[in-house]
Amino acid sequence: MGMKKIGMLTSGGDCQALNATMRGVVKGLYRLCDNVQIYGFIDGYKGLIYGNYRMLTSNDFSGILTKGGTILGSSRQPFKLMRKPDENGLDKVKAMKENYKKLGLDCLVVLGGNGSQKTANLLSQEGLNVIGLPKTIDNDLWGTDMTFGFQSAVDIATNTIDCIHTTAASHGRAFIVEIMGHKVGWITLYAGIAGGADVVLIPEIPYDIDKVVKALNERTKEGKRFSILAVAEGAVSKEVAALPKKERKKLEENPQFVSTAYRLADELTRKGIQDIRVAVPGHTQRGGSPCPYDRVLSSRLGAKAAQMIADKDYGKLVVLVNNEITAIPLEESAGKLKYVSPESDIIEQARTLGISFGD
Ligand code: F6P
Repeated sequence: MGMKKIGMLTSGGDCQALNATMRGVVKGLYRLCDNVQIYGFIDGYKGLIYGNYRMLTSNDFSGILTKGGTILGSSRQPFKLMRKPDENGLDKVKAMKENYKKLGLDCLVVLGGNGSQKTANLLSQEGLNVIGLPKTIDNDLWGTDMTFGFQSAVDIATNTIDCIHTTAASHGRAFIVEIMGHKVGWITLYAGIAGGADVVLIPEIPYDIDKVVKALNERTKEGKRFSILAVAEGAVSKEVAALPKKERKKLEENPQFVSTAYRLADELTRKGIQDIRVAVPGHTQRGGSPCPYDRVLSSRLGAKAAQMIADKDYGKLVVLVNNEITAIPLEESAGKLKYVSPESDIIEQARTLGISFGD
């Protein structure tokens, strides 16, 4: 196989296995191709837009399997602004295409979540060779059973619940643990089950505050001194979920509380639940080293991407389906979110275990 010039970028919110994935791609490429040049764009699409990159060698990818964050840096470049010129009138899409062509790249590898993969699809439709890799702790990328970062975030959120459990038990308190996940409840659901939460509130199942109160009071009646509520940052009440989109947006843009957990604590206090405490692990859920599951997933995804580059199989997102690594057209996934289905198996089992979803 001849020389390959590969551009690579990590885009959007970071997560634990970005470096592990890039290492997988590069390790594979060095084995499959005679001559490889890697152009690492700095801070995601920003680097591609403004031609800011670093030449990387295999040494740069050594020892990073376990390293959190991203050696390339990342930034959020919203998809909806891609077609809007920057403050100096620069056409971003045109600039990205020009930089790609100027460097003579064979392919651009994009490690990113929903928004980033929409831009990847746009660039693919504009004629560039692009391969996407499914990154996000939220696990909300359509077309893959699992995104890398998710399991590591679940580990951290679960650890928080575990820690909260002991202090909640000592003091006989109700604790709300607010868990990331943007508009979906995957991390909350998994960490909630793993941590033995009593109430799990996710955006896909809007809650009725009276039902939450009932679940907590029932525990008290059963002689339980404490309760753990795993609450997704995007959890909403039935009333808010029923609002017209515009009004809901207005509420989201002018929040009365710092975050969902504090809003819920207020709602519960008004309903007579006392001595509530809130714990928000926040960005710790995106930090530290990737868990072994993510290291394996990322390495597999990376190896597949390398094979696809060697085969010139572009325009696709590498995914995990039924525990096999495969690839789907970028356009198939672009713009769709993968939600937790309220009717799914896992929700049913959680209910059987006695977990209340507040509905
Ligand atoms: O998409 C990952 C994520 O951590 C979400 O769970 C969260 O809503 C968001 O990013 C936070 O974004 P930022 O890092 O820009 O505050």
